[in-house]
Amino acid sequence: MSSEAICVEGSRYLGLPRHTDRRRGESVLIERTDLDSTPLSFDPYDPAKYPNWPVLSHFILEMNLPSGPHGDSMNQAAKIGVINVSDRASVGIYEDIPGKAAVALLQEYLATPFEPVYRVIADERDEIAAALSRMADVEACCLIITTGGTGPSNRDVTPEATEDVCDKMLPGFGELMRSVSLEYVSTAILSRQTAGIRGNTLIVNLPGKPKAIRECLEAVFPAIPYCIDPVSYTH
Ligand code: MTE
Repeated sequence: MSSEAICVEGSRYLGLPRHTDRRRGESVLIERTDLDSTPLSFDPYDPAKYPNWPVLSHFILEMNLPSGPHGDSMNQAAKIGVINVSDRASVGIYEDIPGKAAVALLQEYLATPFEPVYRVIADERDEIAAALSRMADVEACCLIITTGGTGPSNRDVTPEATEDVCDKMLPGFGELMRSVSLEYVSTAILSRQTAGIRGNTLIVNLPGKPKAIRECLEAVFPAIPYCIDPVSYTH
């Protein structure tokens, strides 16, 4: 069992995963940064104890990640895959800004170190699928984030490649990301981003613009430990 601290900021999302703090004795520290600066430690799901839940703006979730496929000892950092899907970045015409932005965001959100497994891949369905499979099965990433290739153009095939390799889809991720994104841009409707589970690995598609990457990852991040955890225990 290794310890993983996850820091989630912002009050826009639906809340921390409901069972994460209870199942194995993890602690939840909540700083009421928009009310006062005194950190409180309590059950965030008990409205009687904490009626101001919707205005919380800063959460630090301490949770335990299981040993096994995602890490065999306290010293082994979890691996997280990041794939920037872009024809132009893959041949060096564009700098790989989205992939770097995704890694920077993960470093911001995750308080404990992780090992990024990084690729830049052209918008080719088979190549994306092969990279996803390899990161999941061979490199044992617990989470894979893709950036780009979710739009409506002919070359946008990241969601198809994700569906090709997943055992089970989690359409709620895409629904939430589109819903949150529509508050920023009307073109959010164009993104077909989704998420799914392959073996022990959660795969999440994000759009390609760094601003969109932040907006979308912030929205779904609280659900990510909830998905990784049960997956690890049931396989
Ligand atoms: N979502 C957010 N939050 N912010 C954005 O700017 N851009 C949209 C959409 N989702 C956007 C967004 C646009 S213009 C497109 S075409 C789609 O994401 C797909 O982007 P992708 O092809 O880079 O994956």
